[in-house]
Amino acid sequence: MDDELASVADALATAESATAMTGAGVSTASGIPSFRGEDGIWNTDFDPDDFSSDRFRDDPDGFWRDRLDLHERMFAADPEPNPAHDALVRLEEMGVVDAVVTQNTDGLHEEAGSGRLIELHGNASRAACVECDATVPAEEAFEAVRGGETPRCPACEGLMKPDVVLFGEELPYHPFDAARRMAREGDLFLAVGSSLTVDPAASLPEEASRFGGELAVVNLEETEKDRVAHHVVREDATEALPALVEMVEARLAAK
Ligand code: APR
Repeated sequence: MDDELASVADALATAESATAMTGAGVSTASGIPSFRGEDGIWNTDFDPDDFSSDRFRDDPDGFWRDRLDLHERMFAADPEPNPAHDALVRLEEMGVVDAVVTQNTDGLHEEAGSGRLIELHGNASRAACVECDATVPAEEAFEAVRGGETPRCPACEGLMKPDVVLFGEELPYHPFDAARRMAREGDLFLAVGSSLTVDPAASLPEEASRFGGELAVVNLEETEKDRVAHHVVREDATEALPALVEMVEARLAAK
């Protein structure tokens, strides 16, 4: 790992701008299961089709009951940020990473203290009204579901939806556009803990290298984009990222 990681550290220490993009793999050490792979959520008791925009439209009651089960499964361990989240905060504080783009909806980057954060798939701690866009804590919506009701907006009685992007929905334009611009304009794109299989987020690493940036992938398993990456670090993010912080610190101190 050290050679590959050292070359990522070299690239980060000399980059004028760099963006990190994370996936479920940065949160597994916090106790949140990933989606794919052996114990992945979509390979165990849950079916992604149950969480689609079609299902929400056709059967909001059933959708919300399944969503409650999914939420309780994902957050069963009462997750806290781990050393991978902390290392990304540190890289931002050092002025090395400009922003963190995440596919995760668990809110752990915000809790860790990431400043410039783009949550591409929304945030599971909120529910939003499909009529008036008002948001409430997701827990309020889940309380309604536990009581046998479909969550309704306290302002306008509209149907509430988890404030996340469902399968079949488009990503909100502005966050994705900002992430794409950063990918295109940056010198280095650091993809961490994602299988890089779900578009359009998975198109960003390739976009970065197509526009002349270097692509570094840190992931336990092979990803879809390893073939276009300049650096592949097949390591646990909670070990690789803190080690990367130390290496970049040493390089910046020697400048
Ligand atoms: N360190 C590094 N990598 C890890 C770690 C770890 N500690 N733990 C798991 N991984 C890797 C796995 O090997 C896997 O390749 O993280 C990757 C997670 O991939 P996915 O489960 O596919 O998660 P992600 O890429 O974030 O999924 C994208 O799919 O269903 C949707 O909306 C959901 O945002 C999600 C999207």
